[in-house]
Amino acid sequence: MKNITNNIYYIGVNDHEIDLFEGQYIVPNGMAYNSYVIMDEKIAVMDSVDVNFGDEWIANLEEVLAGKTPDYLVVQHMEPDHSANIVKFMEKYPTASIVGNAKTFNMMKLYFENISLDGRTVEVKDGDTLSLGSRELTFIFAPMVHWPEVMFTYDSTDKVLFSADAFGKFGALDADEDWACEARRYYFGIVGKYGVQVQGVLKKASALDISVICPLHGPVLTENLPYYLDLYNTWSGYGVESEGIMIAYTSVYGNTKKAAQYLRDKLIEKGCPKVVFCDLAREDMAEAVEDAFRYGKLVLATTTYNGDIFPFMKHFIDDLTERNYQNRTIGLIENGSWGPVAAKTMKSKFEKSKNITWLETTVTVKAGVKAENLAQLEAMADELMK
Ligand code: FEO
Repeated sequence: MKNITNNIYYIGVNDHEIDLFEGQYIVPNGMAYNSYVIMDEKIAVMDSVDVNFGDEWIANLEEVLAGKTPDYLVVQHMEPDHSANIVKFMEKYPTASIVGNAKTFNMMKLYFENISLDGRTVEVKDGDTLSLGSRELTFIFAPMVHWPEVMFTYDSTDKVLFSADAFGKFGALDADEDWACEARRYYFGIVGKYGVQVQGVLKKASALDISVICPLHGPVLTENLPYYLDLYNTWSGYGVESEGIMIAYTSVYGNTKKAAQYLRDKLIEKGCPKVVFCDLAREDMAEAVEDAFRYGKLVLATTTYNGDIFPFMKHFIDDLTERNYQNRTIGLIENGSWGPVAAKTMKSKFEKSKNITWLETTVTVKAGVKAENLAQLEAMADELMK
């Protein structure tokens, strides 16, 4: 049994069986589905866990309850990694009510066809409060962080913010790993498109006195909260987090890679503080996406392929633009043995992206890297280092 505060307990679970989170993200260190229980005159459970861990979750809850009965299940987010056990909870505790908003309950009926909610719901609006006796919970709507029904919950007595997916990360709680790396990969993979909405809810949260952040994934945050809040502010504001340049490439026979390597070596030679060198066909795409958002400058190198660009580069650029990639400098290296169109095609894919500065130098390799290409790559390195 793990205390967060005197009356708030952790009842979540670690998942080391999962291969792909949300059907696409590798999670080498597993995943945590967090859930909490607030023991007051009334007892509130904060969210449930993934479908495969319902029994473990109920067992964790029962241990804290020690014979008592919960009054509420607060549903902050209806994505199944948190909502899968709502019916199980309702059957186990037939006197308990489910707390959510209008969108929560609409979604609940979509996920659970025969759910009988009659007389068992407490529907809240943005800013509404719920008294548990000695404390009040305030619900703060956080639409699109990460789904439309999401809400945060604030306990002003213990100064705890329950933040749904926000401030979460990949990795089970027993994984010994850096917070920012896996939180950044999680943020840009899952919530990155919704920076404007995250900024909106951060603004609301800035008015609160917060000592503890309880997210639905990753560790409970109890110390140095400005560090986490600042990172979220930078990420959601599409700001540059770290000085450095990312070179993302694809290569069929190694020639495009050779050009990218030459640029990397020149940048290092010229004193670039950090060069991220990424083979998009072989590295984790979510890791590549987080690096593109982390640094301010990006060089894309790819081949002309089927009159378009190489598939992994297409995928990468789509991942960036659909997450509203912006405020960055981009340089282009293309390869094509006949009729190269990769640079033009890559550039056109950023047409709707805001505040992109294009390098003057674009490098066109025709099959093999020639002396003239090396001079162009050096010029590109100089431009990047300005
Ligand atoms: Fe952890 Fe959006 O669910």
